[in-house]
Amino acid sequence: MTKLDINSAANMQKLGACLAKTAKPHDLLLLNGDLGAGKTTMTQGLGRELGVRRPVKSPTFTIVREYREAKLPLFHMDFYRLEDDDLSSIDLEGYLDEPGLVVIEWPQLVMSDLPKEYLQLTITRVDDSWDSTKRVVEFNAQGKRNEQWVKDTLAEYNKE
Ligand SMILES: Nc1ncnc2c1ncn2[C@@H]1O[C@H](COP(=O)(O)OP(=O)(O)OP(=O)(O)O)[C@@H](O)[C@H]1O
Ligand SMILES: [Mg+2]
Repeated sequence: MTKLDINSAANMQKLGACLAKTAKPHDLLLLNGDLGAGKTTMTQGLGRELGVRRPVKSPTFTIVREYREAKLPLFHMDFYRLEDDDLSSIDLEGYLDEPGLVVIEWPQLVMSDLPKEYLQLTITRVDDSWDSTKRVVEFNAQGKRNEQWVKDTLAEYNKE
């Protein structure tokens, strides 16, 4: 499995930007990692690269935030606070049908409702100290398209 060392929040945003640059309509990105790992930080870099001018904020309380003005429409979801009966209130399938990019934080609760092909990233802290900026990102690509997405993303990331 591919792993990448990230040493700052800025580089996590850069990784998000590289994912965005190489993303295609209907791509699905799942973000795993503990509270404060950097999932929303990565999505901020992604949104900026797609031309979103408003701040990309955590959708924890809203569950979904839509950025339809982006070059590739961005649908940012966070299922951390999802209760089982809330699930029916979100038209997940509808979002997946749109020619945009769906990014999901805390996807565990909805895995059975997702397509088989996706790119899953797991972010972990390397040091125990709470203020450490070191992270490792693990890439788990399901399907050919997502394997290619990882290759393209890493090529972008290592460019300069
Ligand atoms: N290398 C790094 N990558 C990402 N964020 C970092 C890094 N180093 C420090 N940070 C900081 O850690 C925090 C990460 O918060 P963020 O909201 O992105 O986490 P999250 O994974 O989305 O958490 P939650 O599960 O609560 O939504 C930010 O304050 C960010 O600035
Ligand atoms: Mg978050």
